[in-house]
Amino acid sequence: MNDMFLKMGHRGAMGYVAENTMEAVQLALELGVDGVEVDVHVCGSGELVVFHDFTLDRMTNGSGEISKWTLSDLKQLKVDSAFYIPTLEEILNLVGDKYLVNIELKCKSTALKTCEVIQEFVKTKYWNYSNFLVSSFQHGELEQVFRIDKAIPLGVLTEANLIEAIAFAETINAWSIHPNYTLLTSENVKYAQAKGYKVIAWTVNEMTTIKRMKQYGVDGIISDKPDIL
Ligand code: G3P
Ligand code: CA
Repeated sequence: MNDMFLKMGHRGAMGYVAENTMEAVQLALELGVDGVEVDVHVCGSGELVVFHDFTLDRMTNGSGEISKWTLSDLKQLKVDSAFYIPTLEEILNLVGDKYLVNIELKCKSTALKTCEVIQEFVKTKYWNYSNFLVSSFQHGELEQVFRIDKAIPLGVLTEANLIEAIAFAETINAWSIHPNYTLLTSENVKYAQAKGYKVIAWTVNEMTTIKRMKQYGVDGIISDKPDIL
């Protein structure tokens, strides 16, 4: 991972194309991002699938919990009437190793499988660990990743309390803190950075707010419209 300001596409580029799809990620790359943020769940047959909600109803023609569906059944569904639910591996193969992939662990039991996928890409496809950033609100999942493989960069998500996030980050040697942008001030960004953490703000879609975040000196922004970063 480099020291430049990171332009990150949220769920691909969800301001323009259905979130967490191959097409949304492809567009983000074309719009000039440094990386993409995607959400993962474990589905009923054990694979990691890229999807935001715990249930299928809002984004697909299926219904109920994604954790109850097998991958082959999920692949029959349409996202936003036109797209498909990708696996994490499909997204990684699309993105390639010139970008940062921020994998957000949405639910419990995602840590082990995510570590296995990352290790597989490092060993067999010669990706660097620095191509990955695993973030979560689920502290237990981040702790598990930390136990399994200390080389995987970790990010602590918060929408409530930056200080608590930093305190937890210290216990897992996290690389970054990912606060909702509304929590940030010039002072607390500097405080987090002085503690040794990158600050990645989400989800910032307005030009005036983007400008303010940059004035605060954040290290990266996750946006639905990454072309305006
Ligand atoms: O990773 C930042 C952001 O994506 C967290 O919230 O609900 O959009 O996954 P959400
Ligand atoms: Ca997310």
